[in-house]
Amino acid sequence: MKLYPIYFSPTGGTKQVAQIISQTWNWESETIDLLPPGDNAYHFAFTPEDLCIVAVPSFGGRVPAIAAERLRQMQGGRAAAILVTVYGNRAFEDTLVELADILSDAGFSPVAAISAVAQHSIFPQFAQNRPDDTDQAELTCFAQQIRSSLERHTPLDAPPVPGNRPYKTYHTIPMNPVGHNCSSCGICARECPVQAIPADQPDKVKKDLCISCMHCVSACPQHTRKLDKLLLTAAGLKMKSKCGGRKENQLFSIPV
Ligand SMILES: Cc1cc2nc3c(=O)[nH]c(=O)nc-3n(C[C@H](O)[C@H](O)[C@H](O)COP(=O)(O)O)c2cc1C
Repeated sequence: MKLYPIYFSPTGGTKQVAQIISQTWNWESETIDLLPPGDNAYHFAFTPEDLCIVAVPSFGGRVPAIAAERLRQMQGGRAAAILVTVYGNRAFEDTLVELADILSDAGFSPVAAISAVAQHSIFPQFAQNRPDDTDQAELTCFAQQIRSSLERHTPLDAPPVPGNRPYKTYHTIPMNPVGHNCSSCGICARECPVQAIPADQPDKVKKDLCISCMHCVSACPQHTRKLDKLLLTAAGLKMKSKCGGRKENQLFSIPV
């Protein structure tokens, strides 16, 4: 029996949530980080004895395409999978239903799903500093409920998750960070999950490749990589009504 926390977490919120949930299982564990670039680097195979906690952020109410591509390389081998989506206090729409489909097609057995809120990676004024202590307690409680269900009933049926098929259309966000007074250390270019930053000009961005995930902004040791301030302020004001209030974490599982 082995635990696999598997996550795509450009700015760390999804990783935090995956770690909180994972702590409930005191098993041997191996983390799979879906962020590093590399074609065909994700050919992992699992067994029915494994438990995978698969966590992705919601991008435009969908699973980020690059995370989907990497998950599709895996062989689920009927491993139990807890589906997790983490969103920035707007909505996660079709993310869980898409994640359930991707994992079922790859041979995993989805057993429960969680939606959780974390600080918005583009607009940090929304869900600021979440997950907080309340989230931590709530997510731990969800994980304990799933653990008890799994101990009593193996295998569990697939959980009903909210969302629609066909999934909503993903609209690319025209917000691409660039470097200002960049020291050209190259960390962002090496770590960009989609290789959208030229190694020889790391202050630039290949707009056609950039997925606006903000990993480069959070990875820049000098904090020189940023979005255009005016654009960010204007877009943030537009988002205000949709991202206000405190949205709650949710557990989706088969009642037992
Ligand atoms: C390109 C992009 C699209 C996003 N779309 C949504 C969205 O549709 N709904 C939402 O509530 N948050 C959205 N967010 C916010 C992220 O889902 C949220 O901040 C998440 O915690 C980011 O995960 P990370 O910290 O692991 O990078 C989006 C963020 C990015 C970068």
